[in-house]
Amino acid sequence: MDLVITIDGPAGAGKTTTARGVAAALGYRYLDTGALYRGLALAALRAGAGDAGSPAALAAVRAVRMEPYWEGDGMGIRLDGEDVTGAIRAEEVTRLVSPLSAIPAVREILLPVQRKEGEHGRLVADGRDTGSVIFPDARLKVFLTADLEERARRRSLELAASGIVRNHAEVRREIEERDRRDSSRSLAPLIFPEGGVEVDTTGMTIREQIDAIVALARERGA
Ligand code: DC
Repeated sequence: MDLVITIDGPAGAGKTTTARGVAAALGYRYLDTGALYRGLALAALRAGAGDAGSPAALAAVRAVRMEPYWEGDGMGIRLDGEDVTGAIRAEEVTRLVSPLSAIPAVREILLPVQRKEGEHGRLVADGRDTGSVIFPDARLKVFLTADLEERARRRSLELAASGIVRNHAEVRREIEERDRRDSSRSLAPLIFPEGGVEVDTTGMTIREQIDAIVALARERGA
């Protein structure tokens, strides 16, 4: 059966790597919805809009032509034809994306973009509201968590791998702040989706996370 699988959860739980691995194991397409929000945040930054709520930010996200693309088992982003897959991971983007994603007009732009990818099933989508709002009828809705300390440790390692050395306590504080924002916004907040399954990954390896979700998907007919 051709399933849609959603994987939501707080920052640093390993959603992206896990979702990509699950998609590869099942031969499904992988949709990184955070990357779409990041693409719009980069467009706003490039237009000089440092404040997510400014008219310049909204004008920029409305004007830009954003296209996700797939290569191997990963997903990339193009803005007006330019490949920005690496650029959307910059720290300025990470800071702007959370407040920007709380703006209704921004979520409206991305709703049809995401739904279109799920039309034919065989999709693993990761984000904050993919199970609660975007694909409420998904056959498997995973809520991926890990305790804050572990998520901060993973994020520090990820940053270190790209050559950025940061104070661990500061990374932890930023993750906590982003979770608070993403969970407390009024529109499509990060919540446990109805009918969802929690997978707590504290102490699990990425391989174990992937295998656990693939097993759940198989139980549901994937
Ligand atoms: O998963 P990520 O760190 O790449 O996500 C970046 C931000 O985008 C995150 O702080 C909240 C927002 N986001 C969202 O609001 N809804 C989604 N489905 C995915 C991400």
